[in-house]
Amino acid sequence: MSGTHSFAAFAAIALLALTTHALPQTFRHRRPQWDGAASSDSISIYSPTTTETSTTFPSLSVEPSHSFLSSTAPYGYTASGFAAAPTSAPVPSNPYPTASSTNNTSPYQSNGTNETSVNTSKYPAKFRGVNLGAWLVLEGWMTPDIFQGTDATDQWTFDSSDGAEGKLQQHWSTYITEGDFKNMSSWGINAVRIPIGYWAYNNANTPYITGADAYLEKAIGWARQYGMWVMVDCHGSPGSQNGAEHSGHVGAVSWQADDNLQLSIEVLQNIAQKYGSMEYADVVMGIELVNEPKIGDDANSLSTTQWWAAKAYHAVKEKTENKDLYILHHDGFTGVQSWTDVSAKINNNAAYDQATFGIDLHLYQNQDDQSKSLSLQQHIDKACGYVNTDLLPLDSNLPVFVGEFSAQIDIENCQDGDWSQELIDGTRQYFEAMINAYEHSSRGWFVWSLKQGSDNGAWSMESIMQNVYGNDKVTDRKYPGICSFG
Ligand SMILES: *[C@@H]1O[C@H](CO)[C@@H](O)[C@H](O)[C@H]1NC(C)=O
Ligand SMILES: *[C@@H]1O[C@H](CO)[C@@H](O)[C@H](O)[C@H]1NC(C)=O
Ligand SMILES: *[C@@H]1O[C@H](CO)[C@@H](O)[C@H](O)[C@H]1NC(C)=O
Ligand SMILES: *[C@@H]1O[C@H](CO)[C@@H](O)[C@H](O)[C@H]1NC(C)=O
Ligand SMILES: *[C@@H]1O[C@H](CO)[C@@H](O)[C@H](O)[C@H]1NC(C)=O
Repeated sequence: MSGTHSFAAFAAIALLALTTHALPQTFRHRRPQWDGAASSDSISIYSPTTTETSTTFPSLSVEPSHSFLSSTAPYGYTASGFAAAPTSAPVPSNPYPTASSTNNTSPYQSNGTNETSVNTSKYPAKFRGVNLGAWLVLEGWMTPDIFQGTDATDQWTFDSSDGAEGKLQQHWSTYITEGDFKNMSSWGINAVRIPIGYWAYNNANTPYITGADAYLEKAIGWARQYGMWVMVDCHGSPGSQNGAEHSGHVGAVSWQADDNLQLSIEVLQNIAQKYGSMEYADVVMGIELVNEPKIGDDANSLSTTQWWAAKAYHAVKEKTENKDLYILHHDGFTGVQSWTDVSAKINNNAAYDQATFGIDLHLYQNQDDQSKSLSLQQHIDKACGYVNTDLLPLDSNLPVFVGEFSAQIDIENCQDGDWSQELIDGTRQYFEAMINAYEHSSRGWFVWSLKQGSDNGAWSMESIMQNVYGNDKVTDRKYPGICSFG
């Protein structure tokens, strides 16, 4: 999503049960993913309470040792085939003031203790990252194959459909594997943002299937193995924070209704207890509190969202041992400028390189008609211009992360995925312009997304590396002067 002006489009897209990430013109290379499986293989589901056989799926290779995993993976869980996670128990220490002491009517500031003290020298100068989208939170427009043969329009309805658990296990165990981390690190990528739904940790009163957290755990092990950082992104919040498919539930926006805000905090504290511990301080760099909350009269109020951000920040901090952990909140497409005051309070006016509360900003140029009408040069100019428009100068004391963006744009005479030289050159120029801007005026960037099913277009970072970058790394510049700021 690209901005506040696109909420009408947003609603329309939600109604179509597609995603805010775009309405792709065509799905190329659709393949019937489940065809060809041995017809009588059985699936062993790791949940001890569920057994299921299927005539359409190959047997899963989930290790028996996974079978005790519940929605909350035991601390120090390890599985074969990836780097061992730490095995010592988390130390229940709390270097921060308790959130419970925070006055609910004014949660912005802690009681005066200075909580913010990131040691930035521990991190790369810039995070150069990729999202592992459509993996632990399904998005039908990205992986339509999985939805074949169902009426499902989102994770909620998918998880209610026949054989869902087997299909999920199959998807989780094959869509992202260690080889992806190996490849990403070879491209110069040093971080991943991993979307996961709250229901992985608490699926009470919902049809959601648990178990995704075991794969998050695997991915963190692989990231550690390849020296990469992980941002754990709570992408689907209770009640749905935006009514879009990628929140897990199309339709109503009920995140700020009932007890959902409190449940959000409880789940985040659970996540922070584990991934904010020192045992993960070498690999987990951030936890994102909420992704793309829809702000508007028919959805979430900005003031409640900002009040909650402060409350959730302190609640998560309370459970976080690792003082270098970033705690991020999406701007809700209201612009980072509308978050600077709130952020300064939450960060106790800490300097940029010590602030732990940061804003996640998503910058797309393929979401609305106005963007689609731009020429390649106009796309590039707009991307370079982000440093003066959407982003903030680095002395603003607010760390901004560009948590999503895409190189997929309409380039005249080119068809996405048909990699003509013109498309290759244009995509490379546009990509370099964007990451130049992000590296100039933010903590780093995360491409949406590593893959898009089997699609070979510019939404897929894998495809961009293969078709556009060749043997170059993302740190290489073919067009070094493309933005005037260098
Ligand atoms: C702030 O809260 C912490 C934790 O509750 C407490 O130890 C500390 O004394 C408080 N500081 C002030 C200045 O009230
Ligand atoms: C919270 O703070 C506000 C303003 O600082 C104050 O008016 C209110 O009485 C406080 N509430 C509680 C429960 O302490
Ligand atoms: C900050 O991190 C760097 C790199 O890991 C380390 O050498 C240094 O000792 C750390 N500084 C503090 C104050 O912890
Ligand atoms: C890694 O990259 C190689 C070379 O492009 C490719 O053949 C392989 O399929 C990739 N591995 C994964 C897991 O995507
Ligand atoms: C917190 O630390 C920052 C950076 O050192 C400092 O500028 C700020 O004044 C401190 N705030 C408080 C309340 O101590």
